[in-house]
Amino acid sequence: MTNHSAAVPKIGVFDSGVGGLSVLKAIRREHPIVDFIYIADSGNAPYGSRPAAFIESRAHQIAERLVDAGAQVIVVACNTATAVAVARLRSHLPVPIIAMEPAIKPAVAQTKTGVVGVLATERTIESANVARLCRKFGQGVNVLLQPCPGLVEFVERGELSSARTREYLRMLVIPLMDKGTDTLVLGCTHYVFLESEIRDIAGPAVQIIESSAAVARQTLRHIGSKDIASAPYPGRGTFLTTGSPDSARVIFSQLWGAQVEVGALENSNVWAENRLN
Ligand code: DGL
Repeated sequence: MTNHSAAVPKIGVFDSGVGGLSVLKAIRREHPIVDFIYIADSGNAPYGSRPAAFIESRAHQIAERLVDAGAQVIVVACNTATAVAVARLRSHLPVPIIAMEPAIKPAVAQTKTGVVGVLATERTIESANVARLCRKFGQGVNVLLQPCPGLVEFVERGELSSARTREYLRMLVIPLMDKGTDTLVLGCTHYVFLESEIRDIAGPAVQIIESSAAVARQTLRHIGSKDIASAPYPGRGTFLTTGSPDSARVIFSQLWGAQVEVGALENSNVWAENRLN
């Protein structure tokens, strides 16, 4: 086990909060025995309404912590942090940085009505990155950009299907449907946990696209070893938060789908490690 664990790749994953767990789950679906450290900056979430300089600085500090902890690859499991910080991370850190952006390109390729809806945070919607994606891939298609202030907070609270959540989602999604949207992009990793509610509102004919599987495949291209993937090793994961570990334990376990321990980022002596099946 010891020799084996030395050969297991270690990835670092971070997000403003719990949304990036959707990406980490996708990575582990592709590569169940990868070791990871996940940092949720829940003490500073949401990023989407913060100034770009703040997000950039947080992303840099957190990514540095992951590198110091031995991560061989960093996954920025946050569209908002990618939009404002990816260039700095790539130029300052010594490991590959895998980042995410709203799946506008595949959505444009799939739409039949010529109307694509994008749900994302304010900061992502107004970013140069999204403007570039619309310019490059959105020609001839109506790309409706819908900022969703406050939606991340519902997920951070674990409020995935309450009446309030549904009511807010209806307010965001129905106007997009009324304009003929047949393809909906979830441009924030938190929203993946709301997908079934969004599907109920948007209806069965609408394509819902998000980037976690694509990011997982890209991560594998950096760490991938099919030999390791077939070995009987369960993988180890450390979950850390800058918020309250007690609240985090509840919401992480809910979203992960199993009971997990969550440590405080600042208290690096008590980083709890989970053995995962
Ligand atoms: N999960 C982050 C994203 O993908 C949410 C950002 C926020 O905290 O507003 O954009």
